[in-house]
Amino acid sequence: MFASLPTPPEDALHAVIGRYNADPRDHKIDLGVGVYRDERGHSPIMRAVTAGQRQLALNETSKGYLALRGDVRFLSGMAQLTFGAALPDRVAALQSVGGTGGVRMAIELAANAKPDLTVFVGVPTWPNHIGICGQLKVRCETYNYFDVATQQLNIEATRAALSSAQAGDVFVLHGPCHNPSGADLPIAIMSELIDAAATKGVIVLVDAAYYGLGNELDDDLNELAQLVLAAPQAALVLSCSKSFGLYRERTGVLFVACANAAQARVVQGTLEYIARGSYSMPPSHGAAVVGEVLADAILTADWRAELIQMRSRVAHVRAQLETQSCNRSAQPLLAAVAQQKGIFSLLPLTPDDVARLAKNSAVYMPQSGRINVAGFKTGDVEAFIEALEGL
Ligand SMILES: Cc1ncc(COP(=O)(O)O)c(C=O)c1O
Repeated sequence: MFASLPTPPEDALHAVIGRYNADPRDHKIDLGVGVYRDERGHSPIMRAVTAGQRQLALNETSKGYLALRGDVRFLSGMAQLTFGAALPDRVAALQSVGGTGGVRMAIELAANAKPDLTVFVGVPTWPNHIGICGQLKVRCETYNYFDVATQQLNIEATRAALSSAQAGDVFVLHGPCHNPSGADLPIAIMSELIDAAATKGVIVLVDAAYYGLGNELDDDLNELAQLVLAAPQAALVLSCSKSFGLYRERTGVLFVACANAAQARVVQGTLEYIARGSYSMPPSHGAAVVGEVLADAILTADWRAELIQMRSRVAHVRAQLETQSCNRSAQPLLAAVAQQKGIFSLLPLTPDDVARLAKNSAVYMPQSGRINVAGFKTGDVEAFIEALEGL
């Protein structure tokens, strides 16, 4: 029977990681990986997370099952962080299996309400937005969000895509630090889109995987909370992978704002029912650690401080790319990076350029030209600019 299975597409990023690992040159630069790294190239465990894990190890008393919605202390900590208050009664909340699981659950929820829905996704995007729709057999329509050659947002195409959406369709928007472009919609445009979606009965799904890494944390979270609460129906996914550095612990949260508390109870039950038939309940550890950090004022303050350090490093590397390429032949390729936010930018490089950078200079990135700004170690920026000059 399995002979009829088509060969699945290769995961582009894992292929880059494989080629990078196999390269024996010691000056190689890995800009492909999708994690935050410090100036030594290390993806650290955040200090507050280490301390939270210690506390947890001392105080945890049971490994019994969690509630279907997940770790209740984690959910209330994330609600407090996001909404500045307890979870509003018209908002359903589910601990998700990373941000990926949250996006998938949100789309599956919408598909339960409207089986023939369309999910609108601006491209380029995080490939899993399209992949999840494929796995769920849900129609996915793409539009051009960002023009790589000019490094400009295509706001008109975004508006036009929304105007073609029908009630019950899902319109995906990125939270701060767009992956892969680093180019975010201005808040006024986000609000305009949320209002237009509300008028049409379209469900906006905001996927936020990099809060606090481009702007001040509270600014990011307040903006996200206001956007979601402004809508009669909207979903917000917060991944804890990047902002808490918990990648492998598969931790995230899905908030779904509903018209009223009664509807939120039905949505809550539906999310738990879908989860039950899929993975039953999410893994405990990452959420328990975040719950521990957010319940402790000292750990929360330290987490916030370290997040600021991470954000400053990313901004510093972006500024270095701009200033060090000034008046050099690589300048046009890097002209927009200092204005973009978060760990990713999408450079106007051809697949051929990308292959030559790897072959000639041991600089690795996916074929799309996406670079992880946090992938530059101390001294790598100059080597990278020289490699671009060699193209
Ligand atoms: C836009 C976006 N959404 C969601 C995620 C989900 O990440 P995770 O499932 O590791 O939490 C990512 C991670 O790369 C992302 O870039």
